[in-house]
Amino acid sequence: MKRFVKVTSSLAVLMVVSAVCAWAKGPANVANTIHNLSTSAPTMWYYSDNVTQICVFCHTPHGGRIEGPLWNRNVPAANGFTHYTSNTLTLQSADPAYTTGRSVGDESRLCLSCHDGSATLDHLINPPNEIGANPVFINGGVNQAIVDVPDVQDGVIGNLSDDHPISFSYDTIVGQAIYSTGARAGELHSVAAATTNGVRFFGANNRVECSSCHDPHVDYSAAGNPDYAPFLIKPNKGSNLCRACHNK
Ligand code: HEC
Ligand code: HEC
Ligand code: HEC
Ligand code: HEC
Repeated sequence: MKRFVKVTSSLAVLMVVSAVCAWAKGPANVANTIHNLSTSAPTMWYYSDNVTQICVFCHTPHGGRIEGPLWNRNVPAANGFTHYTSNTLTLQSADPAYTTGRSVGDESRLCLSCHDGSATLDHLINPPNEIGANPVFINGGVNQAIVDVPDVQDGVIGNLSDDHPISFSYDTIVGQAIYSTGARAGELHSVAAATTNGVRFFGANNRVECSSCHDPHVDYSAAGNPDYAPFLIKPNKGSNLCRACHNK
């Protein structure tokens, strides 16, 4: 009985917590994911021969870059990418500065520091003291590993033109007449509603970046919750991730 009371009260605490942080992430445990590049990597693909630390491939306690949280990698230049466009996209009419060559937001440059199609995994700004040098990757070829952006079908580095648009203000898009009172009224949820639906926005004007849809730490192994694969901020079952923003 006592035990039951305990569970109920911690459930109540959980509910309060998730009401406070607008979005509730999935279970965190980067160690169980493909983002664990250490000797304890759960997969036999990208992993280091001589570094037991897990966080060090992305974060460092000292001397990191300030584009992101104590970031331990060099990030690609913000203006070296081509973004998606189409005849129906309203980005450019919403703000002429939103050309296909607009800068990539810092939050996305973090991901692209491995996923831009050219980055090597074995270069850290502040290598771990346990080896005092850059990590060695177990497979000689992987030492020069290239981790592509989602689908660089044409092999061109810096090409985000076949990927969901990022690095723009959601406020600016939703605020247009077409989405408030015009032909597409109600087809995009407000920032507040989308946040409640489980996605996140960045900066003062609520930019969409990679991590609007992704969470690099979420454990989507069997021990965590496979619905969060691949590193999703919320499960996309029934397209619920898409429908967090799009009312289609
Ligand atoms: C593959 C890269 C990667 C690895 C490995 C990684 N992180 Fe992160 N971490 C990120 C990114 C990117 C962010 C920025 C916020 C986001 O996108 O969720 C972040 C944010 C954070 C933050 C601040 C914001 C937040 O979400 O709480 C903390 C604290 C953090 N990481 C701790 C850790 C620790 C501790 C480890 C190791 C157990 C770790 N991270 C492993 C990529 C990584
Ligand atoms: C330290 C380098 C590194 C960073 C930084 C990094 N990743 Fe990864 N990521 C990898 C590697 C290595 C893989 C596995 C190889 C692959 O799929 O190409 C991977 C795989 C993935 C996958 C596919 C997982 C699967 O199960 O198929 C997603 C999604 C992903 N990363 C998203 C992100 C996002 C979003 C960010 C930024 C928030 C990020 N990554 C930052 C190295 C990184
Ligand atoms: C609008 C939401 C959204 C944004 C923004 C987004 N992704 Fe994804 N990403 C997804 C979804 C959903 C999947 C899973 C697709 C599937 O199930 O086939 C995915 C899959 C991936 C994969 C696995 C390969 C694949 O094609 O399935 C990688 C790697 C990845 N994303 C990286 C990134 C990076 C890096 C960025 C930023 C440059 C980014 N994503 C921005 C929603 C998004
Ligand atoms: C964080 C909010 C958000 C999420 C999540 C999201 N989108 Fe989007 N999406 C947008 C915004 C904003 C636009 C730009 C609309 C415009 O310019 O009129 C857009 C653009 C698009 C476009 C291009 C439309 C065009 O006219 O060319 C498609 C298609 C699309 N999204 C599909 C998806 C799918 C599928 C998913 C789920 C995998 C998804 N979106 C998830 C916010 C989001």
